[in-house]
Amino acid sequence: MDQPDQTTHFGFRDVPLGEKQTLVNDVFHSVASRYDLMNDLMSGGLHRVWKDIMINTLNPPKSDAPFALLDVAGGTGDISFRAAKKAGAGFHATVCDINGDMLEVGRQRALKQYLDDRVSFVEGNAETLAFPDRSFDAYTIAFGIRNVPQIDLALAEAYRVLKHGGRFLCLEFSTVEVPGLDKLYDLFSFNVIPQLGRAVTGDAESYRYLVESIRQFPRPNAFAEMISAAGFSRVSWQTLSGGIVALHSGWRL
Ligand SMILES: C[S@@+](CC[C@H](N)C(=O)[O-])C[C@H]1O[C@@H](n2cnc3c(N)ncnc32)[C@H](O)[C@@H]1O
Repeated sequence: MDQPDQTTHFGFRDVPLGEKQTLVNDVFHSVASRYDLMNDLMSGGLHRVWKDIMINTLNPPKSDAPFALLDVAGGTGDISFRAAKKAGAGFHATVCDINGDMLEVGRQRALKQYLDDRVSFVEGNAETLAFPDRSFDAYTIAFGIRNVPQIDLALAEAYRVLKHGGRFLCLEFSTVEVPGLDKLYDLFSFNVIPQLGRAVTGDAESYRYLVESIRQFPRPNAFAEMISAAGFSRVSWQTLSGGIVALHSGWRL
């Protein structure tokens, strides 16, 4: 059970554990309508490449064989849409996110792309998923897990809802280790991104949080240990773009 005085990070601030989710929700309510545009502007389109690498790694079957993906913190549905376009007729994705505004943008995108029969949207918390045990073939979470207050609970839930032989994949910002690139990345992150956020969404603070939260996230080896501790086997990771992003993988065996 949570201790009343337990704290956690919200960006560079320490906040009571029980308050983080409300603060995170405020961030994504504020940016939802401009979220996809901001992703392109902030990453120069690179987020599309990272997401495609995640989908290629997932490699959903191209056949009629049933394949159920749970895309947690799926927001506006990007990962699920990319997977649905690559997969066969047996594919179905469930986008689960705690924020109704992000999901509503996703629902509209699904309709526009004629993917509404293959991708469904469910409001829910990664820490307490409302899905039966062993009900999904794969679990993805992209740029979501660092926003979840209790990551160990989310990992335990990922393990619980995956079938035996199911795969866990997590794409998340990581730690730039390339000398020179780290300084440039810091300059860009702390100066350009909040200003871009202000110009496009009128909200610099939300983007300051997003940048700060990246710096608080565990390094790839430490995060891999957390994934193993949740019960996953064959845990591995690869870093992309000089460590800007890491893709972690684990199996429920
Ligand atoms: C940066 S967005 C990522 C969206 C999408 N996966 C993508 O890659 O474009 C992070 C998402 O995490 C969601 N989120 C934050 N805390 C959550 C939680 N406890 N459970 C489920 N979703 C959560 C937010 O609402 C937001 O939509």
